[in-house]
Parts: sequence; C-alpha cells; structure tokens
Amino acid sequence: MAVKLAVIPVAGRGTRLIPLTKSLPKEMLPVGRKPVVQYVVEELDRCGLQKLLFITGPTKIAIENHFDLDMELINHLRETGKEELLNELAFEKADLQYFYTRQRRQLGLGHAILCAESFVGNEPFVVALGDTILGVNAKGRIVERMIEVFEERDADAVIAFEEVPEDEVHRYGIAKPVNMDDPDIFQLAGIVEKPSAADAPSRMAVASRYVFKPKIFDFLYKTKPGKNDEIQLTDAIQAMIAAGGKVFGVRVTAQEHRFDIGNYESYFLAFLEFALADPDHGDAIREKIKQMVK
Ligand code: G1P
Repeated sequence: MAVKLAVIPVAGRGTRLIPLTKSLPKEMLPVGRKPVVQYVVEELDRCGLQKLLFITGPTKIAIENHFDLDMELINHLRETGKEELLNELAFEKADLQYFYTRQRRQLGLGHAILCAESFVGNEPFVVALGDTILGVNAKGRIVERMIEVFEERDADAVIAFEEVPEDEVHRYGIAKPVNMDDPDIFQLAGIVEKPSAADAPSRMAVASRYVFKPKIFDFLYKTKPGKNDEIQLTDAIQAMIAAGGKVFGVRVTAQEHRFDIGNYESYFLAFLEFALADPDHGDAIREKIKQMVK
C-alpha cells in the first residue's frame, strides 16, 4: 500500500526559545526565507505524500494561516504590479490536503501521535517533526528512501538516523543496531530515549522522520510515561521491537544534515547556514561575516 499520509507534530511549546516562542510557534521561526515548517511540508510534497495532519496546540494558529490559499494577497500582488512575488507563494498551490487536530494535553510525542489514530485508520504513515529541517533548503529525499525500505522489507517501522557526537546522545532517541554491516540501512535490536553517554548503545540518533504501520498505535496505547514523565514514541517503538516487530534505520546523507531549531545556538547556526546559501544574498553575507570576524 503506497504511503500517502503524514503526521506532523507541532504542539510543543518551544520553551527553550522563550520569548521568541511566546506567541509565535517555533515551527514558524524563519530560517533563511521560509518558516521552518514550510521546509518540512515541501520535503514531504517532494517525497509523494498527499495528506498532512498537523497535531497542533493553542499557540499554533499561525501554521494553519500559513498554508491557506490567500486569494486576497494574490489579487493584491497582481493589482499592484508585483507579479514577481507570486512565485514566493507557489507553495500554497502544492497538491496537498491539510488537516489539523489539537493535542489537548501536553503528554509527550507518543501521545501526540496517538491523536492521529482516527486520521490514519489502517494505512501506513509518515511522522515528520515540524521543527526540524533536513538539509539546506531541504533538497534531500530521505523520506522517499525510507518508504522504499519500508515496502521492500515489509517493515513495521523505518526511522531516519544521524550519527551524533558522544556528548549529544542524551538529547536523542538512540538506536541499538543488530549490526552495522551496512551503515546506511540497518535493523534495530532496540532503541532508547535520551540515554546517558555511558548507557548509549550507539551514536545513531533519531533524526525526526519515521514511517510506521498503524500497528504502532497498539504499542502507544500501552506506553506508560517515561523520560521526562512523557509518553515517548521511542518507548512504543522499543516495545514493538521486543514483540518481534521489524524496525529498520536509514542513515541521512551529509546533504540531509539535521537542523535543530530547539535552542538558540543551533537556531542561529541554522539561520546563518541558510543565509549563506541564499542565491541572491549568500555571497554578500559571506563577505560581511569575513569582515566582522577579522
Ligand atoms: C524527539 C524524540 C527523540 C528524537 C528527537 C529528534 O525528542 O523523542 O527520540 O531523537 O525528537 O528527532 P525531542 O527533541 O522532542 O525532545
């Protein structure tokens, strides 16, 4: 069955970025010319997904507005001779259907995914975290490769991984691979949420993209609050593996490097890298930076 559905959790408050995120969803923060979540949606569109469900929360209404078809703005640009700007709104016309539901209590990522159950029904689906861009201008096709592995191996889940330094493993879900004979595609013997460096089974960190059979819901229902007292998606995946589920990891390429928007240092770095890659202004900014750091 082709994978057409994607679930995009965007309910997290982004507390590490207060005051920026007080009324602005962290997924709407600009990185270069676009808000973060637009890169995520464009990536999913390119990978053939058709129906997107956002799991939202109280301060997230700007996300819904962003993906509306804004005829008033389009007409205004036409009437005022600014047709060249219409290109910037081309994303509004993507052949995608948007759905929104609220996570009414902040009980963790696993709980957010449970909110998608009736939308998903019996179909396989992608989960793409709405606050993470993979690759500059998100040109990669990691989700497409993950869907291929999912179908070829009749997997119960496929997860994107990126290798991280040892002092960062405590921030991520970490894979326990069966073996690393092929470092690009490997089966998981287990997965653990945010382990200490000493307990981490590897340095392969979950990189914000997943493909699931709907069977994951059976495990999510049984998952008790774990790390940080939240219902963790990672714990449900671990339970599925323990019950004999086939779960594979696919490694992101260097071009699909994960941009974390969750704290100021990584947010600033993400913006900088995208600004430097800007076709119109990148070179000028590079020169300015050289002068600034001389
Ligand atoms: C979540 C997941 C974690 C994953 C990370 C980045 O954590 O729980 O397993 O590695 O996203 O994809 P969060 O960053 O929401 O705390």
